[in-house]
Amino acid sequence: MTDSPARLRVGILISGQGSNMEALVRRSLEPDCPYDVALVISNRPKAAGLAAAEALGVAARIIDHSDFGQDREGHERTIDAALRAAGCQVIALAGYMRILTPFLVEGWSGRMINIHPSLLPNYPGLDTHRRAMEAGDAEAGCSVHLVTTGLDAGTVLGQARVAILPDDTVASLAGRVLAAEHQLYPQCLADFVRTALT
Ligand code: GRF
Repeated sequence: MTDSPARLRVGILISGQGSNMEALVRRSLEPDCPYDVALVISNRPKAAGLAAAEALGVAARIIDHSDFGQDREGHERTIDAALRAAGCQVIALAGYMRILTPFLVEGWSGRMINIHPSLLPNYPGLDTHRRAMEAGDAEAGCSVHLVTTGLDAGTVLGQARVAILPDDTVASLAGRVLAAEHQLYPQCLADFVRTALT
């Protein structure tokens, strides 16, 4: 019997529909994937992604930020403890809509990644597709990057580019970029994890 190679354990933080989380989990179900998804955490109790994670057989937990009032770090300490208890070695943010404090960012420095719906360094922050269209850009896209204390400012690990078409609306562009995200994020996470394992 041959030992299967070690797989790195990933925790995913979500706030909403979790379609990127789902793409990451689906990739983890393939035999050659270098990571397992050990835990999904949502800060919002009604996030649709919670049911999607459970349907895929992944443990999912709600850690509601509103239970912590203004204590952002207290919320993150609870998240951090849950991730560590599950043996997570890397965090993937997937539509996690909270600004992080230095506690989590520095505690997981070099081991936390995010997907952002623009071609960084263009358009950090929100409303990226509208901003790209209003600027008259020919292309939009998405970026996977390391998380640092700067807003969407960490080293870019990979990007996918999507043409902006003349009859695009914000919604049609967002849909095509999201489809590209579902390809890019699992690939970048697998590459990132392979590097971390060597
Ligand atoms: C994605 O567009 C992602 O780039 C951004 O938030 C959105 C999350 O979508 N950070 P989903 O919850 O993964 O479907």
